[in-house]
Amino acid sequence: MNESSVIERAKDNVKNILIEGGKILTPNGTAPGSLLVSGGKVAAISGPDGARETIDALRIDASGLWVVPGLVDIHCHLREPGYEHKEDISSGTAAAAKGGFTSVCCMANTDPVNDNAVVTAFIKKRARESGPVRVFPIAAATKGLRGEELTEMGELREAGAIAVSDDGKSIRNARRMRLVLSYAKRFGLVVVSHPEDEDLVDGGVMNEGYWSTMLGLPGATRAAEETVIARDCMLAALENSRLHIAHVSTAGGAEIVRQAKRMGAPVTCETAPHYLFATDEWVRDYDTNTRVNPPLRTETDREALIEALLDGTIDAIATDHAPHHIDDKKIEYALASSGISGFETALAVCWTALVKPGRLTPEQLFDKLSRSPARVLGIDAGVIEEGARADITIIDPTAEWTVDPDKFASKGKNTPFTGRTLTGLVKYTIAGGEIAYRGD
Ligand code: DOR
Ligand code: ZN
Repeated sequence: MNESSVIERAKDNVKNILIEGGKILTPNGTAPGSLLVSGGKVAAISGPDGARETIDALRIDASGLWVVPGLVDIHCHLREPGYEHKEDISSGTAAAAKGGFTSVCCMANTDPVNDNAVVTAFIKKRARESGPVRVFPIAAATKGLRGEELTEMGELREAGAIAVSDDGKSIRNARRMRLVLSYAKRFGLVVVSHPEDEDLVDGGVMNEGYWSTMLGLPGATRAAEETVIARDCMLAALENSRLHIAHVSTAGGAEIVRQAKRMGAPVTCETAPHYLFATDEWVRDYDTNTRVNPPLRTETDREALIEALLDGTIDAIATDHAPHHIDDKKIEYALASSGISGFETALAVCWTALVKPGRLTPEQLFDKLSRSPARVLGIDAGVIEEGARADITIIDPTAEWTVDPDKFASKGKNTPFTGRTLTGLVKYTIAGGEIAYRGD
């Protein structure tokens, strides 16, 4: 039997998988050893000398590799229903698996919008049919993402929504946002805020500053993000309702969240890999793949975001995987759609920007990519321990590779990292005990 059919068999029967010789990251620290997956769960973790000769299992040689909890992405766009030319749930979850993610949360800006239980249930069903990566829909907070009438949050929760958000837009009216927070609290749903004051953005397409002036492109002030972060933190404190701030990209935004946490507001936040690696200088060649919302900021912001990860202000790194069709990008900068196809570069971008230069330890990085985001939205994931669901990612921390979007599993080839050599490669992704991805 050749190797791929062995894997097929393992997939079909959810057989045992024995991961040998890797560095296993558990809540008690990182230690060399072996890990046995059986019946979809972590059946046993043993030291390097654990008895394993007699076990009938698919064996994975993980020597030199990190064996970490499956990555958890609390912010992505899977585009189905409605924009299947950009991505669908099958291609999106394949891309997620290739990026090491075993659980992903998808935003509601589909067509139709995920603002009712039928769409939420459809997404869950398509995800189950697509493979072992778990998909947790984040439903709309207001009908049609119009910022007016609230959605039926009780029904959405019943259907499987894990949070509510009008991501892609802010809820413009502060009183309406207050109502969203108050209503979501009754149903135990976290509200995810996309912090962007459209009036202040005023047509800006990149960060307002030196580079927007140099390039002659309309700039979006950082205050457009920061004022909404401040507003929403105050409203969350007022309603004592759980708020999560999406894609914090500025030093000021991180500082506001820091202060809000000090005040005891029930707030968490995320940033995305591109804000930790790239800056607005990257726009200099007018590459529309650098267009993203919020926009790439400055080196000062990048530094502040790293500090905020380290001191716990930023709880999670989320990809904001936003695949687009080539036709949405191969046009002039100011007309191009915003977004970066992020699943398949997230780990390597973070490893290269944060771990390689010694800013974060691998343990700190995996906390931000797995355990902490799982906690933010209450997903049962993020920890390798006996009895836990077998969501496991195996990573080669030394492998260098060059980003080539033609090799992405995602339909979205829109990345500003094309041609960059990055360090850190996903070798295997195991989701619920099944092999979701196997690298070369
Ligand atoms: O760049 C972005 N793209 N930011 C968002 O908030 C939405 C996303 C999208 O849906 O394409
Ligand atoms: Zn957003």
